Amino acid sequence: MWDYTEEVLDHYRNPRNVGKIDDADAVGEAGSLACGDALKIYLKIKDGVVVDAKFQTFGCGSAVASSSMMTEMIIGKPVEEVKKLTNKDIADALGGLPPEKMHCSVMGHEALEDALKNYYNDEITFSDINSDSASKVVCTCFNVTEKQIIDAIRDNNLKTVEDVTNYTKAGGACGRCKGTIQNIIDTYLNKEDSQKAEKPKLSSAQKIIKINKVIENQIAPELQKDGGDIELVDIDENKVYVKLHGRCSQCRNSVLTLKAFVEQTLKDAIDKDIEVINIEQ
Ligand code: FES
Repeated sequence: MWDYTEEVLDHYRNPRNVGKIDDADAVGEAGSLACGDALKIYLKIKDGVVVDAKFQTFGCGSAVASSSMMTEMIIGKPVEEVKKLTNKDIADALGGLPPEKMHCSVMGHEALEDALKNYYNDEITFSDINSDSASKVVCTCFNVTEKQIIDAIRDNNLKTVEDVTNYTKAGGACGRCKGTIQNIIDTYLNKEDSQKAEKPKLSSAQKIIKINKVIENQIAPELQKDGGDIELVDIDENKVYVKLHGRCSQCRNSVLTLKAFVEQTLKDAIDKDIEVINIEQ
């Protein structure tokens, strides 16, 4: 029996935003009935903001909970912010999912990505890998592409084939694709190591100054535009403690703001190991 959090059980028993939007601006799909899980998501987008989202799913309780939470997280958010959402953000907002069920959060993210690609007529990029590689199916049993595997490795810091199976299902049936998955992991991790080696290491003092500057000059001005604000409370190695103020502190999507915007901006600018923690007021 899986160990589910209260959030997962709540969203499974009382799923939010179930259904269909007849005049949706974007529709996205992920999974397939043949593989046991399928999800369809409908978005209504106005002036660059997701004003409504609904979903229909055929899958387990984790798939329902992930889809429900994801719709809650994106309604009211600008598309630019929604684009940065990862499956890890969805799983984190649910208080975590059992490793074997992480593929449900991945499916939610894939359906969202598919919807936004359709909305922008495929002119949107979510990662830096090329389109040939993106469409290459690695696992034919579950129809999982190389891009899906690389996204899961990158967003969730995966290290083993078993991890990839838990997050994407790839490798979970006949096992023929496991060698290819291992090669993808090796290639990705080698690339990451060489990028790390190229990046000059900051001293603790330099890092603190840089974090302060990024929050002051990049993050706070963006939040202030929406009537919110952020206060830096403390820095302990890679842990950055902050307080969200104004509209940000009351927003039901504060987890998304914190992870997809604040944390991601600091990771991109300074160090990918930075973790941002909100000190509740
Ligand atoms: S091809 Fe991946 S499990 Fe069969």
